Amino acid sequence: MRVLSGVQPSGKLHLGNYFGAIRQFVELQREHEGLYFIADLHALTTIRDAARLRALSRDVALDYLALGLDPERAILFRQSDVPEVTELSWILSTVTPMGLLERAHSYKDKVARGISPDHGLFAYPVLMAADILVYGSDTVPVGKDQKQHLEIARDIAVKFNQTYAPGFDARTGAGAILRLPEPLILEETAVVPGTDGEKMSKSYGNTIDIFGDEKALKKAIMGIVTDSAPVEAPKDPEPSTVYRLLKLLCDGPEIAAIADAFRRGGTGYGDFKKRLLERVLARFGPARARRRELEGDPAHVEAVLRRGAERARALAGEVMAKVRGAVGLGA
Ligand code: ADP
Ligand code: TRP
Repeated sequence: MRVLSGVQPSGKLHLGNYFGAIRQFVELQREHEGLYFIADLHALTTIRDAARLRALSRDVALDYLALGLDPERAILFRQSDVPEVTELSWILSTVTPMGLLERAHSYKDKVARGISPDHGLFAYPVLMAADILVYGSDTVPVGKDQKQHLEIARDIAVKFNQTYAPGFDARTGAGAILRLPEPLILEETAVVPGTDGEKMSKSYGNTIDIFGDEKALKKAIMGIVTDSAPVEAPKDPEPSTVYRLLKLLCDGPEIAAIADAFRRGGTGYGDFKKRLLERVLARFGPARARRRELEGDPAHVEAVLRRGAERARALAGEVMAKVRGAVGLGA
């Protein structure tokens, strides 16, 4: 099974990115062939500063390595180091119905929030489809917000195959030139809540960043919005953001004890937040130390990405040879 996913270098890594996506990458690399990239071409739709984009791309590479992606197992690379992706993206755009892109939630949400859309934002899902299809990926681990983008990638692959692969069967995927990918979305981490209880997201300013300094981490956690129940009052754990985050970080017996403490009353939200801070520091302490080490060795990080790009290009080349042949490009 070939597993692929990417993270945009558009800001600091947060708990939502980790539990929604990167934790799965790390687990899956043990058993499966994995390709994990830094989606710098996608980030161009929001970052318009060269130095900043380079710095943020480097950050994602450090995040990946610090959190346990192993370049001996998985292929780690920058999206833009594989030009086959943009070539396929164009070819795919010629079989992508406008209506498919017009229905994309993430595009519609951005327009609704007053962002004046450019073609890059509109075509974002086509580039994402190219990312996935150019390596013949089977499985794409992501958070729930990416589900529709995965469906679009699949629809585009079907369109391409129906147009160019004689004997293609859309029901079984047999006879495909571009393999049909499946999303992998874990129910328990599909949507990690942010400090305001909404989906944690860089664009909402409600994140808890994994690699921020300890003071910033404490400030974010202590700032989690709660109701105004007094210390002694019994509290319902399930709707509480602090509890939902603790649930991601504590083992079974510990979280059961915390749920009891909520229901019993006598413990204030401040104490639960302190526990959350402790658990975040304990869980990510080793990764935080490893990241500081890696920061001192940019040559190593660059060598990992260069090697990753070579391996990724070799795989992309195989698919592109078939695609170019099928559509009539080249001799
Ligand atoms: P953001 O919304 O902060 O910009 P990205 O879009 O860069 O995050 O997401 C990178 C990966 O992390 C994607 O697979 C996405 O689905 C996942 N992800 C982001 N936020 C969350 C969240 N709050 N809960 C679960 N997964 C998330
Ligand atoms: N759009 C994804 C996000 O914002 C990042 C991404 C780009 C991606 N290409 C991808 C994820 C291909 C999975 C597969 O999170």
